[in-house]
Amino acid sequence: MSKIAIKEDIFWVGAKDPDRDVFDGLMPLPQGTTYNAYLVVGSEKTALIDTCEPEFLDQLLGNLEGVKKIDYIVSHHAEQDHSGSIPLMLERHPEATLLCLQKNKDMLQTLMTIPDDRIQVIEDGGEVSLGNKTIRFEHFPWVHWPETTITYIPEDKVLFPCDFLGSHYCWENIFAGDDPIVYKGAREYYVQIMMLYSMMTAKHLDRLKQFDIEFICPSHGSVYDKPQIILDLYEKWMRAAPENLALIAYVSAHGSTEIMANYLGEALEKRGVKAVLKNLIGLPLNELAGDLTDAATIVLGSSVIMAALHPLAVYTAFLLDRLKPKAKFAAVIGSYGWSPNPLKKAAELLPSWKVDVVGSVIAKGHPDAAALAELAALADTIAAKHREAGLMK
Ligand code: FEO
Repeated sequence: MSKIAIKEDIFWVGAKDPDRDVFDGLMPLPQGTTYNAYLVVGSEKTALIDTCEPEFLDQLLGNLEGVKKIDYIVSHHAEQDHSGSIPLMLERHPEATLLCLQKNKDMLQTLMTIPDDRIQVIEDGGEVSLGNKTIRFEHFPWVHWPETTITYIPEDKVLFPCDFLGSHYCWENIFAGDDPIVYKGAREYYVQIMMLYSMMTAKHLDRLKQFDIEFICPSHGSVYDKPQIILDLYEKWMRAAPENLALIAYVSAHGSTEIMANYLGEALEKRGVKAVLKNLIGLPLNELAGDLTDAATIVLGSSVIMAALHPLAVYTAFLLDRLKPKAKFAAVIGSYGWSPNPLKKAAELLPSWKVDVVGSVIAKGHPDAAALAELAALADTIAAKHREAGLMK
């Protein structure tokens, strides 16, 4: 690997991690990831933007071969996948000063040892000149940590949005173009990392409108050379109304709940609601994540096992409650052997997700005609709710 030119005197110098299979011990990474760092060479000063996980320092150093002097190391974010190599880089470059916002300084110094005299705190909105290039700093809190900072180089129209707008995708060609695989990964990344905070952070999209942007260089994944594509997608994911879509996520021990899920899906389709079924058994979180940006209704289906909802349903309910998709409606379906109570109490697993639980259908054993009639009625209710919400005619 060697450095890759983004624009004149702006280079990608980060690290590729194609084999990493999970992030935070939670998010599957089917396509690995990258820790993007960038080198900006001004007429007077040179800046390194972010670093990488310490175990990948060799890649970063290899990409910086021949760079004699680094005047500044810019830190956007204290999380170790970008900041972990800062102490080592400061050691190797005693001439370098770390540039960051105060909030980031506080967090960096709780996570690693960086002496005060190596740090220059920049104000929100502050600028640092490299000679013929300027780095502008802006605090963009909660995408996805409180200290998250973005930077922008006006002379080159290049935006560095940190984790915001990124993707876990270990590319061969750094530029995203309009490759659908990049945007699929970006959507899954959005759901798993950014969606929880979207009520607070959607306004950041308006703040980005102040910048004339030619390239977006996030901290993970591809560089966006057609920036409007990812900006439009974030507008849709963060702010657009949900679609006329019901996601039925279910787990079935002996097939009864699966029959119910299939029946409900067909009944919804007959009523004009698009239905997507996801069997939770063996389903990676990123595959569940995709439709969470769009669905107006989410139906959780579960068997009763161990006198409780199936653990996969409990896990999914927990994720829904934490990730808070913008779905307006929810429902519960499922089958039990001798105790319906876990299904009756399923909505209690969603204490903080503001969603309208519009119904439940609970069958004893194999769903009989009465249970199927209840599922048809639930489909009527969901279709009516979508119509009332203006999602279908
Ligand atoms: Fe990629 Fe929040 O670190």
